[in-house]
Amino acid sequence: MVAELGQVKVGVLGGTGPQGRGLALRWAKAGISVILGSRSADRAEEAAGELRALAGVEHVSGLDNKATATEADVVLVAVPWEGHADLLQSLKQELANKIVIDCVNPLGFDKQGPFALSVAEGSAAQQAEQALPDSRVTAAFHHVSAVVLADLSIAEVDIDVLVLGDDREATDIVRALADAIPGMRGIYGGRLRNAHQVEALTANLIAVNRRYKAHAGLRITDV
Ligand SMILES: NC(=O)c1ccc[n+]([C@@H]2O[C@H](COP(=O)([O-])OP(=O)(O)OC[C@H]3O[C@@H](n4cnc5c(N)ncnc54)[C@H](OP(=O)(O)O)[C@@H]3O)[C@@H](O)[C@H]2O)c1
Repeated sequence: MVAELGQVKVGVLGGTGPQGRGLALRWAKAGISVILGSRSADRAEEAAGELRALAGVEHVSGLDNKATATEADVVLVAVPWEGHADLLQSLKQELANKIVIDCVNPLGFDKQGPFALSVAEGSAAQQAEQALPDSRVTAAFHHVSAVVLADLSIAEVDIDVLVLGDDREATDIVRALADAIPGMRGIYGGRLRNAHQVEALTANLIAVNRRYKAHAGLRITDV
C-alpha cells in the first residue's frame, strides 16, 4: 500500500498546530515529503526546521497556506473549526483537482464536557466539499491524538483511521497515508455524507480520555 504513494508531497494547512505537526512528523519519518502551511510563512519555516531536526530528515519545508496548497499533491486541513470555511473558500483555485483530507472536528465544550456542534452542511467534511467543488475531498484522522503523534517514544501509533469519501482512488491514497505510519491502519469508512458521526464521535473519545486519563483510539474488528 505504501508503495502506491510514490513521490506524493503532502501539504498541511495549519501545520504549525499540534495535530498538523504531529501527522507531518510521522509522515516525514516514514519518508514522505511534507510542507507545513501557516498563515505566516515565517512560522511555517520555523516549525518545519523543528520537525527536520526531530525527524532527522530534510524533506520538510514550511510555506504560507496558499503556497502549501499550490505546491502539495495531497492537502490535510488541520485548522480550528472556526477558521475552516474561510480558509478553504480562499483556496478554492489552489486546491482544485487535489485530494483534500479534512480532519476537523466541530466540537463545543461546556461544564458537562465536549459535545458535537451541529453544522449547516452536515459536517466539516461536507462544508469542505461545498467550499471546494473541484477538489477530491476526503475525511480522516479525526480520532488520532496529537499528544501520541508527538511522542516519538511511542513507536507504533495504535489506532485505526476511518477514511471517508466518494472517490475510491482518493480514499485509497489517504488509507495509504495512514498505513505509512507504523501501527496505524487506514480503513474505508463510507461516503462523505457519513462524516458527521465520525467527527462527532471525537466528543465521546475525549470524554473517555478525561475519565480514564488516556489517549483513546478505535480499532475496527474483523477487517
Ligand atoms: N489536537 C488533536 O489532538 C486533534 C485530533 C484530531 C483532530 N484534530 C482537529 O485538527 C484541527 C487542528 O487541531 P490543532 O489542535 O492542531 O489546532 P490549533 O493548534 O488550534 O490550530 C492549528 C493551526 O491552525 C492555524 N489557525 C488558527 N486559527 C486559524 C484560523 N482562524 N484560520 C486559519 N488558520 C488558523 C494556526 O496556525 P498559524 O497561526 O501558523 O496559521 C494553528 O497553529 C482541529 O480542527 C481539530 O478538530 C485535532
